[in-house]
Amino acid sequence: MRFDKCAHSYDANAAPQRAFAARVAGFIQIAPGEGVLELGAGTGALTRHLSVIGGANIHATDASPAMVSLGRAAIPAVRWSELDAFQGPVPRAELQVSSGLLQWADEEACVLRRWKAALVPGGRMVHAVPCEPCLSEWRAIIQESPVRWRDENGWCRVFAGAGLRVRRRQFWVDSVVFPSALDMVGAMHRSGITGRARLGPGRLRQAMRTYDDRHRGPRGVVATWAWLAVEAVPE
Ligand SMILES: C[S@@+](CC[C@H](N)C(=O)[O-])C[C@H]1O[C@@H](n2cnc3c(N)ncnc32)[C@H](O)[C@@H]1O
Repeated sequence: MRFDKCAHSYDANAAPQRAFAARVAGFIQIAPGEGVLELGAGTGALTRHLSVIGGANIHATDASPAMVSLGRAAIPAVRWSELDAFQGPVPRAELQVSSGLLQWADEEACVLRRWKAALVPGGRMVHAVPCEPCLSEWRAIIQESPVRWRDENGWCRVFAGAGLRVRRRQFWVDSVVFPSALDMVGAMHRSGITGRARLGPGRLRQAMRTYDDRHRGPRGVVATWAWLAVEAVPE
């Protein structure tokens, strides 16, 4: 993924992620005064909703300096820091949250085990991830993907494998319309979620033509986006 490079074009190209972040914020249910550590906060799609909850004490972090600088400018009331959430320890917190981060880890259960170790006694975590059938139409055409895809139960097994008990979970699915497959792929690219170019230009063009043929409706091409939020506590 190319988040630091694409930080300035992320907001304009991440409408699905923003829509899910708003719902994740509603799911979290912050208690007044609760200390919240947000990981992979990006430009603050989730942070901005959490920051308006009275008395919330939020520390937003991201590995990308460009994302942190944009987030800080957009939501200055919150404390911002650069933090790689997949390497080394994360700060202790009563509540740890993220939206659209955990799926980027190579070893999700190892990462969750380290995050669990940073919860204060009685603490909880809410992490939200894209989930099957997110982008399934595109993945039916292009099998290569920068992330490992799981359904709801698969994600719950990852949490259980890290010694976490899932207390609540919520799944959302949206149909997102783009004018064409080229616009859809362009938005993914400009949001930074695509990795190193793996397909040659010929194969990419062919894949977009196939997508347009299969998924064009009256308003453009349709893509399924699906997101899962999980609240978990140490076993
Ligand atoms: C899909 S964006 C989600 C951003 C934001 N939470 C949202 O909902 O729009 C993923 C974010 O995770 C960050 N990220 C990726 N790897 C990371 C890591 N190892 N530690 C912390 N942040 C990371 C990226 O810089 C990017 O801002």
